[in-house]
Amino acid sequence: MSATSIFFSAIAIMLLSTTIAAESSASGGAKPKVTNFMVEACKNASMKNKIYDPNPITQEFCVSTLMLDNRSAEAKDLHSLIHIAIDILKGQVVAANGNVKQMLQDTKNGTATMRALSYCMVDYDRMVSILNICDTMIKEYHGRKGGANDGLLSSELPACVERVDKPFIDCWLGLLAMEAKKLLDENFAVGMSVTLNFCLASTI
Ligand SMILES: *[C@@H]1O[C@H](CO)[C@@H](O)[C@H](O)[C@H]1NC(C)=O
Ligand SMILES: *[C@@H]1O[C@H](CO)[C@@H](O)[C@H](O)[C@H]1NC(C)=O
Ligand SMILES: *[C@@H]1O[C@H](CO)[C@@H](O)[C@H](O)[C@H]1NC(C)=O
Repeated sequence: MSATSIFFSAIAIMLLSTTIAAESSASGGAKPKVTNFMVEACKNASMKNKIYDPNPITQEFCVSTLMLDNRSAEAKDLHSLIHIAIDILKGQVVAANGNVKQMLQDTKNGTATMRALSYCMVDYDRMVSILNICDTMIKEYHGRKGGANDGLLSSELPACVERVDKPFIDCWLGLLAMEAKKLLDENFAVGMSVTLNFCLASTI
């Protein structure tokens, strides 16, 4: 195991416990519901990790992320669950972008940091725009049994989610250069959620 993957695993575990803690306090201590369907979908999703991914998503990470939205427990099919997962990811990107914007306001004009933050805001906006397209795809997707007029291959959905990789990495590189720890942690959480969305979308 390389130093990088040990580092990332440590962060992933930290994020996982924060996520669970945040969720149990948000629902006033009541335990968020987990359905067998969520667990099964997450089990399938965890088998779709790319072999070279240093931070593969686990079934547990998947379930705890889906638990962030109480609609997950109501989901009866993969389309609804993926729609919810995209919503969760969009929320995380918007929140991360809000903090980039905040830091930008406190940054001197004309500096390299200012430019990197400005690019990052555009990158995050672009991620949301792409995710909106993927979301529309899910709504229009009628499943493999839809027949000749279906118009959408099952591989198109993960390919759509995969398109957010580029803006995500661009922003990550910028933040890495300025060693903005809080923004980097948020960016990492966004990255894990992107992977999760890719894996879930790949199970359709
Ligand atoms: C999980 O995968 C199995 C085997 O491919 C499949 O039969 C099942 O329907 C899948 N479950 C979900 C929730 O996607
Ligand atoms: C989910 O939680 C919100 C408040 O956080 C509540 O208004 C809503 O009714 C809940 N939905 C379900 C399906 O439990
Ligand atoms: C930076 O430049 C923009 C546009 O020229 C200006 O609106 C803003 O007030 C400036 N910010 C600072 C901190 O100087």
